[in-house]
Amino acid sequence: MDTLRVLITREQIAAKVAQMGERISLDFAGEPIMLLGVLKGSTIFLADLARQIKLDATFDFIAVSSYGSGKQHSGEVKLLKDVDHSVEGRNIILVEDILDSGLTLTYLKNMLQAHRPKSLRVAALLDKISRRTEPVHGDYVGFAIPDEFVVGYGLDFAERYRNLPDICVLESGSETR
Ligand code: IMP
Ligand code: MG
Repeated sequence: MDTLRVLITREQIAAKVAQMGERISLDFAGEPIMLLGVLKGSTIFLADLARQIKLDATFDFIAVSSYGSGKQHSGEVKLLKDVDHSVEGRNIILVEDILDSGLTLTYLKNMLQAHRPKSLRVAALLDKISRRTEPVHGDYVGFAIPDEFVVGYGLDFAERYRNLPDICVLESGSETR
């Protein structure tokens, strides 16, 4: 039996996302940006963040596989869907739901840098700093969280729970990490 415990409420998320949007708007004042969401976990965050950014902004999405259906990182990252629009010469803000080991972000940063964007920054709603194995960080980070598996607000466990409005810790009876 799965148990859900609220870790971050929808109100806390909304306040934080507004701050992040304000920060990005100030940092890129007068410049166009491209919000590049990593499917599917970042979609709800991207939708809310985009509406807090007062800039000329476009959207694009990429998809990678890293986790399979469980809680463990498979150790390798594979590109499932590339960008639709060129990133060359653009201000790219990579939008991630959560930074964990950092493997996904390292892979994506290397891939994107090879296409010479004007700038590349990372906005991540959540950061599990204690889990990091790669030397990467987010430029705009919402919440640092402890090493617990979370779902909701776009984050899933085996594709479920993405639609929860709050971020919750998934405490499962049988599953271990
Ligand atoms: P990393 O490559 O280990 O940094 O993993 C990043 C990806 O793993 C995120 O984009 C999520 O899709 C997934 N992930 C990591 N931790 C969690 C979690 O607590 N809940 C749900 N997904 C997670
Ligand atoms: Mg996932």
